[in-house]
Amino acid sequence: MSKLSHAQWSSKMAFILAATGSAVGLGNIWRFSYMVGDSGGAAFVLVYLACVALVGLPILVAEWLIGRRGQENPINSMIDLARKSGRMPAWAVVGASGVLAAFLILSFYSVIGGWSLSYTLGSVTGQFSGQDSDGIGALFSGLLANPTALTLWHTAFMALVIFIVARGVTKGLEGAVRTLMPALVILMVILVIYGMTTGHFGEAMAFMFSPDWSAINGEVVLAAMGQAFFTLSLGMGIMMAYGSYLGEDVSLIGTARTVIIFDTVIALLAGMAIFPIVFANGLSPGEGPGLIFVTLPLAFGNMAGGTILGLMFFLLLTFAALTSAISLLEPTVELLEERTPLSRVAATLVAGVAVWALGIAALMSFNVWSELSIAGLNIFDFLDTLTSKFMLPLTGLGAILFVAWRLDRDSVLGELGLSGVQAQLWQVVARVVAPIGVIAVFVYGLI
Ligand code: PHE
Ligand code: NA
Repeated sequence: MSKLSHAQWSSKMAFILAATGSAVGLGNIWRFSYMVGDSGGAAFVLVYLACVALVGLPILVAEWLIGRRGQENPINSMIDLARKSGRMPAWAVVGASGVLAAFLILSFYSVIGGWSLSYTLGSVTGQFSGQDSDGIGALFSGLLANPTALTLWHTAFMALVIFIVARGVTKGLEGAVRTLMPALVILMVILVIYGMTTGHFGEAMAFMFSPDWSAINGEVVLAAMGQAFFTLSLGMGIMMAYGSYLGEDVSLIGTARTVIIFDTVIALLAGMAIFPIVFANGLSPGEGPGLIFVTLPLAFGNMAGGTILGLMFFLLLTFAALTSAISLLEPTVELLEERTPLSRVAATLVAGVAVWALGIAALMSFNVWSELSIAGLNIFDFLDTLTSKFMLPLTGLGAILFVAWRLDRDSVLGELGLSGVQAQLWQVVARVVAPIGVIAVFVYGLI
């Protein structure tokens, strides 16, 4: 039934744009830079790059393949495919865990989306001009200490997400992604050039790319892998859902490579823009989730044309966050739509309001509930850690095991267009390297 009602992507380009819209977001700029800073720099970056190439790429391909074959929402796709290959519907748990993870992630993602909105306004009103690092830091702590303001911004962001998803105009955003993503890259490059003028660019590059291997421990590796999953939107069934719209003629591996390179370049540019500012102003790289909000405004406040560039940057960041957030809400909405009598609008409202409520709990971590802890973490960090370090990798592991070990080998290789040495390489990476990588990181990280 859903096979017929399921339209396909108008073109390969439309699919790439949608996948890029989901992948590129706060994860590349906000989360990547603060994780690098928290985890001590280059060692994290290099492990991260290895995770993206050896684990992220095969899992992205696996998710698209499952989605394209299943032609349905992630849970049903996994059940159908498992049945067809004579396997247990237990694989459906993998799909369900993904939908839950997307739901949990959106709750705190929206809080940061709200910060980005707030900084868009802050740029317009010229709040950052001429401020030094103390002034910028005070603005940010002021925002964090104010639960009402945080709630308003979080609400505004979620309202935008709900509005777009309820109207089902997600596809209309492709055109915007096409123009705004390159604009974001250009702005990042301008910021990197600004970083070069601070006199601390070399220090920043060494911090990001010259590893102190002794800094590597289980925690760093687990964090790097979690970041790889988060930034590529993996382990949530989101890429699976996109795969269900994908025509037979699209090359999964080639497309995965394109999306991954783009996502990675934006993250690296973000780091190269932010760390020179950190060192030039004597800030701490381990500032935490506020890192981009206490560094970038310093650049905008002190460079020629900074007001307009700052406005453009935070607008683009908000837009990138929105396209990712939409993809995070979509799985829950689809599930409710298919499994309950709710209409699309009602399903979106129910899902959106539930996410919003959880987001309120997350934002209280920065003020009234800062002392409250679960497993030693505040609510915000708990949601982030639970999802990115545990749920996503485990779900992604399920997806790759399913494709590499359960589906018919020859048909998978045929679908990926692989033969000879390339086929062998895929077999080794998909069957052994990626799964063992995920499992090893867990074992190592937990000990
Ligand atoms: N990949 C997005 C980012 O980097 C975040 C995201 C995660 C979006 C999971 C969808 C699903 O910001
Ligand atoms: Na990303």
